Amino acid sequence: MCGIFGCIMKKGNAAPVIHASLKRLEYRGYDSVGIATLTNGEITIKKDQGKIDDVHKLVNLDDMAGNIGIGHTRWATHGAPLKVNAHPHVDCTGKIAVVHNGIIENYNELRNELENAGHQFVSKTDTEVVPHLIEEAFKKNPAWTLTEAVIDTIKKLCGSYALAVISTKEPEKILCARNESPLILGIGKDASYCASDLTAFLPMTNKAVLINDGELVTLTPGKYEIKRIQDGSKVVREPKVIDWSPEMAVKTGYPHFMIKEIHEQPATLRNTLRAQEHYLDLISTFLDRATEVYLVACGTSYHACLAASYMFSKLAFLPTYPVYASEFVEQHGKSVNIDSTILAVSQSGETADTLGAVTCSQQRAATILGLTNTVGSTLTRVSRVYIGQQSGPEIGVAATKTFTSQLSVLAQLALRLSTKRGKVSQDEMDYLAEKLETIPQVVETIILTQEEKVKALAKKYKDAKIFFFLGRGINTATAFEGRLKLMEIAYMPAIAFPAGESKHGPISLIEPGFPVVFICPKDGVTHKTLIGNIQEMKARGASIISIIEEDDEEVKAMSDDYIEIPKGIPEVISPIPFIIPLQLLAYYMAIERGINPDMPRNLAKSVTVK
Ligand code: M6R
Repeated sequence: MCGIFGCIMKKGNAAPVIHASLKRLEYRGYDSVGIATLTNGEITIKKDQGKIDDVHKLVNLDDMAGNIGIGHTRWATHGAPLKVNAHPHVDCTGKIAVVHNGIIENYNELRNELENAGHQFVSKTDTEVVPHLIEEAFKKNPAWTLTEAVIDTIKKLCGSYALAVISTKEPEKILCARNESPLILGIGKDASYCASDLTAFLPMTNKAVLINDGELVTLTPGKYEIKRIQDGSKVVREPKVIDWSPEMAVKTGYPHFMIKEIHEQPATLRNTLRAQEHYLDLISTFLDRATEVYLVACGTSYHACLAASYMFSKLAFLPTYPVYASEFVEQHGKSVNIDSTILAVSQSGETADTLGAVTCSQQRAATILGLTNTVGSTLTRVSRVYIGQQSGPEIGVAATKTFTSQLSVLAQLALRLSTKRGKVSQDEMDYLAEKLETIPQVVETIILTQEEKVKALAKKYKDAKIFFFLGRGINTATAFEGRLKLMEIAYMPAIAFPAGESKHGPISLIEPGFPVVFICPKDGVTHKTLIGNIQEMKARGASIISIIEEDDEEVKAMSDDYIEIPKGIPEVISPIPFIIPLQLLAYYMAIERGINPDMPRNLAKSVTVK
């Protein structure tokens, strides 16, 4: 997730406006920043790695001439957070500049073709292919307009993008386009803006035009023209007047970051499932060769590892050991060795306990692999190979969208490994890969159809003394994560166990009315045994809250309350959809109990002490 911004004004300098607007977009990414302006037939660029304020101190982002310009605040996906990878990117001549948010999946092929045609690349980004493709379009068709060259380019791109383009060839306009990355226009009296969200331009204008996938926009001062990329047909869309306060705008209308990030999951999952081919392949090759594999992490990331241990075992027949990073050195510090492989999972890439386990393992010559949301973090620097999970910055202390993205990368890895090892039939693999692709849509449906029911549940159970979470198999991890969310965000005491363990002790806690949440997917062998566990609890007067598939009449009939998930989810990927209601439960429970879910007491987003 990055932030893009473009501005064209009748008079005045665009740079200070772009700079201030990027500040308002900084929550979308903050590892590097850049601005390009256009004046007197030349494009000027200032960019560098680092936060906007730090870069501004170094280069003065306001001091750039030109009434038209584009800007970018970056959250690295392809290429480390370095000056050379910061946007805007330009073509060989420096006459076309581009900012981009999204992921261009086929950039490798495009780059190869362009390099063969003589284009010089300077960065490691996927974005850089765009200005070169536009340049190439002009080379082949010198009479083309900028619009024609940009449309030709966009038709070659696979993946997600919100793009803004300026060129000395037609210096009086900005072109922008969208596919699966947000893009919105702001229309003022004598100025027009394009941005990743309306927070960026709200202080200048409250007239906004939403841009849809497959649309191209030409911006001139105070005016805009929208076309469909596919057939060039014109789209008529009037601006809407937005009455959000600036505070609401930062959270795009949501009252808290946590609920915003829960709602972002269909989009972040789509992003996560894209690309990464090369790194997935590399990591699965390392895992395939490994003698012993530890999955090391803390908190929510540990729960992703726990789920992953079931995925690797079931799909690739590879035993892996999930370990709390804070325990790793004590438990395995002496035995870890050159034959060990550590897959460290950390959203921030900076968690001290996780890095401690990594350092200890490195000293004993183990192989370190990483999965993180923060390219450029310590974990990416110490890993032999790492995958950036591409969820965008997560601001709420509660890990939500980053958890489901971790699960989807780990599922992709398990599938890769399975293919390598030939342990599962091709038909099953294809089926699972297809099902994984549908998960963003499934998550969208759950949020759309179940949120109100979860809200009502939170009202009903807000004064409970304690919550119990039970799941079996891979959904033991879902139960653990549901408990962690409810405890950390709503301060609700909660316990979680593999359902089979409950009768070995925890069941003695049960009193009439005691809420017990069962995570109950229908696929797999756990369903039958879980029904037995529900009966045990019901017989002792517990209130049964079940998370079930929509046609699971048997469990529905036994439940006091239930939340429904679309049917047909393979068990091995079920934690992704099944955690969504539990994230919502924690959020609404916090609201009911008068707690700010974005600022839970005693916690920090990144725990950098041991
Ligand atoms: O950045 P990391 O993934 O390494 O963070 C690990 C935990 O600190 C984190 O998941 C924590 O448990 C969250 N507050 C959970 O919501």
